[in-house]
Amino acid sequence: MNPPIPLHPRHLFPKDFVFGVATSAFQIEGAADADGKGPSIWDDFCRIPGAIANGDDGRTACDHYHRWQEDLDILASLGVDAYRFSVSWPRVQPLGQGAFNDAGLAFYERLVDGLLERGIQPYITLNHWDLPAALQPQGGWASRDTVQRFVEYACHVGQRLGDRVAAITTHNEPWVMSVLGHETGVFAPGIRHRGTATQVAHHLLLSHGLALQALRAQGCRSRLGIVLNLSPIGPATSSPEDRAAATLEDGRSVRWYMDPLFKGQYPDDVWQHLGGDVPVVHDGDLAAIATPMDFLGINYYTRGVISADGSWDVRNSGKRLTDMGWEVHPEGLTELLTRLHRDWQLPPLYIKENGAAFQDHFQDGAVNDAERTDYIARHIAAVGDALAQGVPLAGYMVWSLLDNFEWASGYAKRFGIVHVDYATQRRTPKQSALWYRDFVLAQRAARPLPQEASA
Ligand code: FCB
Repeated sequence: MNPPIPLHPRHLFPKDFVFGVATSAFQIEGAADADGKGPSIWDDFCRIPGAIANGDDGRTACDHYHRWQEDLDILASLGVDAYRFSVSWPRVQPLGQGAFNDAGLAFYERLVDGLLERGIQPYITLNHWDLPAALQPQGGWASRDTVQRFVEYACHVGQRLGDRVAAITTHNEPWVMSVLGHETGVFAPGIRHRGTATQVAHHLLLSHGLALQALRAQGCRSRLGIVLNLSPIGPATSSPEDRAAATLEDGRSVRWYMDPLFKGQYPDDVWQHLGGDVPVVHDGDLAAIATPMDFLGINYYTRGVISADGSWDVRNSGKRLTDMGWEVHPEGLTELLTRLHRDWQLPPLYIKENGAAFQDHFQDGAVNDAERTDYIARHIAAVGDALAQGVPLAGYMVWSLLDNFEWASGYAKRFGIVHVDYATQRRTPKQSALWYRDFVLAQRAARPLPQEASA
């Protein structure tokens, strides 16, 4: 048996530090064509034979679209400060341009109001990958027109929800949409072309900056930002080849996003490396991308280790691996955060996703997911370590509230702190959920006032 996990391992967090949980629309909602929803590129991708493990799809998922009240009650029982979810673009604008679908928007209004009634702050994401399928034949994110389409969609959602939500994230993980969606093709829309991928990343960043400007121009009061998936990237050995490969990977996955967002420029070394695959950039694009943000969201799961010849094998790391095959490495989160703080001028930071997939087992009606609980506790402590070193951290959210559709892995990988039995749609909070509830309660009871915390 593992020893019990202490409720506040090393740190007391400031009183206004936000603890939450996160989900995304396509992964939990189901109701794939209810009430006028249009298809997304993920609905289409799921139909490609072999694209998703076990041939799974998102048509029903956790049926959250119909069970949202029960799910909000679970959230309330956990006592979290905040809930991060995403708005499905094709649910509120089925074709991605033209008419908006009021019934779709009404769902998110109910959700936001239901959260506020329960004292939980809504954090919304506008694009968690489910682009309206109708935009893909016109080029999808590779087309510059999609930038304007996104800004119009963002403004519409901002008008309807912007007075009630704590924060609006434009995009979740542009690297994933760009590289996994358009370079390696393992995610929707399944394209394999590096030049397309860099153009997609540029359009995502540009539409982010222009959406911020447009939302502010219409008086939106929510805090505005973006969510990046970032990891510390290191060489497998100290050989010059491995070090050069690690620097390039850091350039492609971290600096390619941080530099334009916070310095208004793309990193030179990566630009040179890409040769003919660099994006088309118009005058004024970089200034728009660098529009100041109110927060930066970071998703952290593991570190990256790079060897020039591809010989690094995570299975030889000696570290515990999650069910995704990702190394458990909480120190990497502290390392990442202190590095970001050193190299860029940052707004308040939120960990917008952190969590782990493990094979869970029911025992006597409970799920004793000690490994997930340990993972979360150790990463929260790592956030506390970064906070103690002066990194401007404002919140932490667990991925995920519910077991859900884990993209190309389908339902086989379970990230939830609440177990979902997909046959019955029964929800059962796991030990990790109960630990997190007790942790947040204990923090709240013991939290010093903000001024005492910094004294
Ligand atoms: C992130 C995604 C999220 C979830 C986790 C495990 O990349 O943002 O939707 O799938 O990974």
